[in-house]
Amino acid sequence: MTETAEQGEYQTGYEFVVVANRLAVNRTTNHDGSTGWQRSPGGLVTALAPIMTSSEGAWVGWHGAADETLDPFDHEGMHLHPVPLSEQEVEYYYEGFSNGTLWPLYHDVIARPLFHRHWWDAYRRVNQRFAEAAAKVAAVGATVWVQDYQLQLVPQMLRDIRPDVKIGFFNHIPFPPPGLFAQLPWRHSVMRGLLGADLIGFQRESDARNFQRAVRYRLGYYIKSDQVFVPLEEKTPAPLEGFTADPARGTAPRQLSTPEEGTFRRSEAKAFPISIDTERIVKLSNDPKIIARAAQIRAELGNPEHIFLGVDRLDYTKGIRHRMKAYEELLQEGKLQVGTHTLVQIASPSREGVESYQRLRDEIELTVGRINGEFDTMGHTAIRYLHHSYPIEEMVALYLAADVMLVTALRDGMNLVAKEYVAARKAGSGVLVLSEFTGAADQLRQALLINPHDIDELKAAMVQATHLDRENERKRMRSLRRQVVSHNVQRWAKDFLHRLDQL
Ligand code: F6P
Repeated sequence: MTETAEQGEYQTGYEFVVVANRLAVNRTTNHDGSTGWQRSPGGLVTALAPIMTSSEGAWVGWHGAADETLDPFDHEGMHLHPVPLSEQEVEYYYEGFSNGTLWPLYHDVIARPLFHRHWWDAYRRVNQRFAEAAAKVAAVGATVWVQDYQLQLVPQMLRDIRPDVKIGFFNHIPFPPPGLFAQLPWRHSVMRGLLGADLIGFQRESDARNFQRAVRYRLGYYIKSDQVFVPLEEKTPAPLEGFTADPARGTAPRQLSTPEEGTFRRSEAKAFPISIDTERIVKLSNDPKIIARAAQIRAELGNPEHIFLGVDRLDYTKGIRHRMKAYEELLQEGKLQVGTHTLVQIASPSREGVESYQRLRDEIELTVGRINGEFDTMGHTAIRYLHHSYPIEEMVALYLAADVMLVTALRDGMNLVAKEYVAARKAGSGVLVLSEFTGAADQLRQALLINPHDIDELKAAMVQATHLDRENERKRMRSLRRQVVSHNVQRWAKDFLHRLDQL
């Protein structure tokens, strides 16, 4: 913690602040009914925790319960600053605008985004609260790293309160093509919110391009080599929400030449593909207890020749229905047989308050029931479906047990499950069937890449995965592993923060 006497208001502050919708811990309930906190298992927390503890950092986020205000507290060397949300804000800001508007819009409108003004109002209000919370704990000149689509307005809101801090933003999900983004009634405010950051990170090159194109065409800002020239004052009146400087209509972007020095600040928009804590997965995959558990899983499934595995949050972006359709047809055609083949589908519960997620669960469970009813035998099941979340140890055992990993997302910012599977396959065997619509497909080029909408192509890849000759399989896996081993989440965080520091 640093004394910041220069700014009376910020007497003390943290040099490094992470702002994310969720805090870095989950609440746990002990046997005696008392509650505690446990560090969240995700890659982001794993990557940032060491930086937080070594640099006296603070994490600002929602603690997951509605209508509860908590004082800041410390956990495993991290300083946690909970942001309260009312029950109505959970409904309007989190389930509503974040997951009923932005999530489907940013994932190629696989589901229909809903545009409600009262959801937007709540989103703005909550973003302001996060910005104020961050402003309160940041030391003078601190680095503040804002995470993800729930908080896109925070960078500019924070800059308005604290122009002295360095602001980074990372978007963990895709950024949509300008034509889709254009549907958002509050698109200008969202772009301006993001442009408050000095560095805006995206998963893929194409996401960064989509953002740059939206900014060029909608706001008319000049862009050169990933640098957006953000005017300090808008010379021409800012376009109203709904204004269309649309290339399709032939309207030219307004600012075509480099603006004069002193009239702008720069914001860089660039790809930083996220990864996993590779060393941890590799270590777990070598653990004799986990190796034994993998063998036990295979035995419990009746020792089939080939286990297909799907691991997803129960989300309509993940292509779970497409995967099941392909599998069902292969069983019908006799190209796969129950007993010889089985599909394990882990579908972890997610966003259960959102209607589209409730409908998806019903559909998936109906489909699983139908397939199992038709193809199960007394001793073997076609699909072992589990609607649970599992600890990482059990996940690694599943990765070790599975011969073929199916990642069939219709759109996915990255897909870390694909990378975890590869990290766990130290022996070099195993086949990854990977949707080309995931961020991971940009890096994992030696997977069997498929278009999940093309059911025949998906079926062919599933069959190919069971017939791949050993040498081909190992060659592909070795190449995939080289990528995942050399690009872990720690390197991702370091690269982003290094670039932010340079700007
Ligand atoms: O991928 C975006 C993301 O927000 C992740 O950060 C998170 O792990 C996942 O979606 C689930 O999000 P939540 O349960 O917080 O809505």
